Amino acid sequence: MTSLEDFSSHKIILDERKLSNEYIPTVLPHREEHLKKTIETLKPIFQGEENIVRILIYNGPIGTGKTAVARSIGNKLIEYARKNKIPPIAVSYINGQEFKSKFQVLRKIGSDLGLNIPRRGFSTQEVMEYILNFLNRNNYNLYLILDEADVTVKQREGNEIFYMVTRLNEIYGEQRLGLGTVIIFRNYYQNIDILDKAVISSLNAPIIEFDPYTSSELETILWSRIEKEKAMRAEAVNDEIISMIADTVGYDVKKKTGSGDARMAIKILYFSAKKAESEGRTYILPDDVRSVINRGVLPTVYDKDILSRLSLHEKIILLAITRTLRLEKEKAYVNMGVVKLEYEDLCNKYRIEPLGHTSVWERIQRLKTLDLIETKVAKGTSRGRTTRIQIPEKIGINRVPLDLLENILEELIEKDLSRRG
Ligand SMILES: Nc1ncnc2c1ncn2[C@@H]1O[C@H](COP(=O)(O)OP(=O)(O)O)[C@@H](O)[C@H]1O
Ligand SMILES: [Mg+2]
Repeated sequence: MTSLEDFSSHKIILDERKLSNEYIPTVLPHREEHLKKTIETLKPIFQGEENIVRILIYNGPIGTGKTAVARSIGNKLIEYARKNKIPPIAVSYINGQEFKSKFQVLRKIGSDLGLNIPRRGFSTQEVMEYILNFLNRNNYNLYLILDEADVTVKQREGNEIFYMVTRLNEIYGEQRLGLGTVIIFRNYYQNIDILDKAVISSLNAPIIEFDPYTSSELETILWSRIEKEKAMRAEAVNDEIISMIADTVGYDVKKKTGSGDARMAIKILYFSAKKAESEGRTYILPDDVRSVINRGVLPTVYDKDILSRLSLHEKIILLAITRTLRLEKEKAYVNMGVVKLEYEDLCNKYRIEPLGHTSVWERIQRLKTLDLIETKVAKGTSRGRTTRIQIPEKIGINRVPLDLLENILEELIEKDLSRRG
């Protein structure tokens, strides 16, 4: 058999797309209970029951399968609805990091329904009515996913967005709509209090916890990606390779070590395969894995799409942090003051007005909530009395090849600037 694949340079990877973060696998080992609980809770909506709301909250750290579980249900629903196996249901996926205002959220729902809602010319209320009318007229129920809700909580219209995604069917009197909403948090308990009491009580919903994956769970997940999803040639990998990766990333319940992040495990596998391929091999060696791990594989939070969603000034601040860290190689943390100077230099270079101290501070807090940086309060020392400037916090980035991060950020900033004209 001849296919285009035969002429590609890949000797190990069969389908690059299946190793990317956006790919939703057809099976999700170790998440059977999560899937079952979700489907049970939202069943009435999926069965076409009218004027009903069901809300579920997912809570858990990065890479624990929250998005994959919620979206895989969405994919199945669309497939079943197309085959007329279930009553018509629309699916909308909203990433809180990308869609920050009520209007933006509504526009995304609209676009997921196949409606074209212009950026300007309509009020939020008009768009909402338009969407509800559309759903009513077609007798659709709606399965809504609000992902990265920790970010939504902190938005100016956070309360209103939460109110909307949990009450859409009753905002304009009785609607036929059945609404099933999954709201995904990385840290529900830490962030929920920011919302108004009334909104919190409307959020009174079952919480499904997503725990970090253990090493043996990651082994199944990696094998499943290779064999079931056919992302790679199975002969290119052996148990030893898979255990190496799983042990590096796996969460150890007793020692409380390891991130348990499946995304990271898949990424190490991917880069190891790339390395082997670049050396002309048809199989992965332990040394490939070792070198990828030692090079400090990109932590999941450094995915380019997350970086590209940052505002221009956030990008420049992160670039300033990156550069400062690179200059002070032996240090894990750098001073906020030094970062600020570097940031101002960069603004100067890019010919834009730097933000004031408080605004920079706020941006740094946001980078922190996105897990892009860590900050630490500096301890006061008795020595060095001459140094009177007390810098409250220190900033650090871990586990990321700084030169790579710097390149990515520079590229994204240039793009933003050219778009501004
Ligand atoms: N149980 C699982 N089985 C197979 N792949 C998984 C599983 N859990 C997570 N993944 C994969 O790991 C990556 C991260 O999962 P994701 O759902 O994005 O995590 P989260 O949303 O919790 O940060 C994705 O590529 C996803 O397909
Ligand atoms: Mg996610």
